[in-house]
Amino acid sequence: MNPVELARPEIRALQPYSSARMEPGVGSIWLNANESPWPPLPVDASWNRYPDPQPAPLLEALAGLYGVGREQVLAGRGSDEGIDLLVRAFCAAGRDAILISPPTFGMYALCARVQGAGIVEAPLRRDFSLEVEAVLAAVTPAVRLVFVCAPNNPTGAGVPRAAILRLADALAGSALLVVDEAYAEFSDPQPAGGSVAECLARHPNLVVLRTLSKAWGLAGVRVGALLADARLVALLRKLMPPYPLPTPCVEAALRVLSWQGGQATRDRIGIVRAERTRLAVALAQCGCVREVLPSQANFLCVRFRDAAAVAGALLGAGVVVRDVRRHPMLGDALRISIGTPGENDRVLEVLQAPQPATRSVEPAPCGGAHA
Ligand SMILES: Cc1ncc(COP(=O)(O)O)c(C=O)c1O
Repeated sequence: MNPVELARPEIRALQPYSSARMEPGVGSIWLNANESPWPPLPVDASWNRYPDPQPAPLLEALAGLYGVGREQVLAGRGSDEGIDLLVRAFCAAGRDAILISPPTFGMYALCARVQGAGIVEAPLRRDFSLEVEAVLAAVTPAVRLVFVCAPNNPTGAGVPRAAILRLADALAGSALLVVDEAYAEFSDPQPAGGSVAECLARHPNLVVLRTLSKAWGLAGVRVGALLADARLVALLRKLMPPYPLPTPCVEAALRVLSWQGGQATRDRIGIVRAERTRLAVALAQCGCVREVLPSQANFLCVRFRDAAAVAGALLGAGVVVRDVRRHPMLGDALRISIGTPGENDRVLEVLQAPQPATRSVEPAPCGGAHA
């Protein structure tokens, strides 16, 4: 099946904008893009030129990193851009819908609302695991995209590969399965394999979102990758602005990806995973903690006897955590990112104090969707 057939007809027929940088031509005098002929002083770089929309060295680095072909990679401004492109390409306003399993990452629903698409919900189980059969039962003819966040934000729960592949099989021909692997690097090694990106060839309706914002420490650089069937990648490129990736960001990403062959990043992932275990064990022993949810990500979702008071005590000590009480089934929870060992010690000091909390914090409004 060609996954592109599920996209909006007007998007399939769209004649994409052809930027000056995309037009063929080899020359040494560039007078085709109304750029300045001088690099901006004092920067000795080619920043006076529009960037390549999809720079080959970046695509190659991302394809190598995620074990896919270069033509299966769409590089964008974080995985946020991938979510937005998918919703715009596949969901016609007032007609089509996405399916999500709350509590989950807020950008899926936000993009759908902005697009005027419907939102079908198949909530997670009480233990925050994904109920595959409930997802399939909830799919309506309007659903074009099914989002699965693995590991899930804000709970941290992993999703078994068998569940993802069952969904991909069952949705073939009717919807895309979008697996958001923003936190995959922090997961325990799986006996059945790592990223489901290696299943793209057998499942043309599968899309995998990856990002350099988390494990690779590049949140400020805004580079993410959408991995999919090459025909789908070509379709989504039509919707991107002409020059989505700033040159300094591409350069920064390439520098970091090649930094000691990625070993430095792997070492840091190891520290995060060890600290996650240490923090989870220590938090579970704090009197103010009700439950620490098992996490495969670089954060812990923690239920407290009085979450507002704990958030206030942490804030009083200068520690900012994420209030996730607005999410269904998490009315008593805060999400705590794993910091450096010293930062994690600070969290424990506050929570192990005999009298935490006097100042209480109100839950953030639902609009605060990101991260
Ligand atoms: C599950 C998930 N997906 C995607 C993103 C977006 O990340 P970025 O756009 O920085 O790649 C985030 C950010 O927190 C996230 O938690």
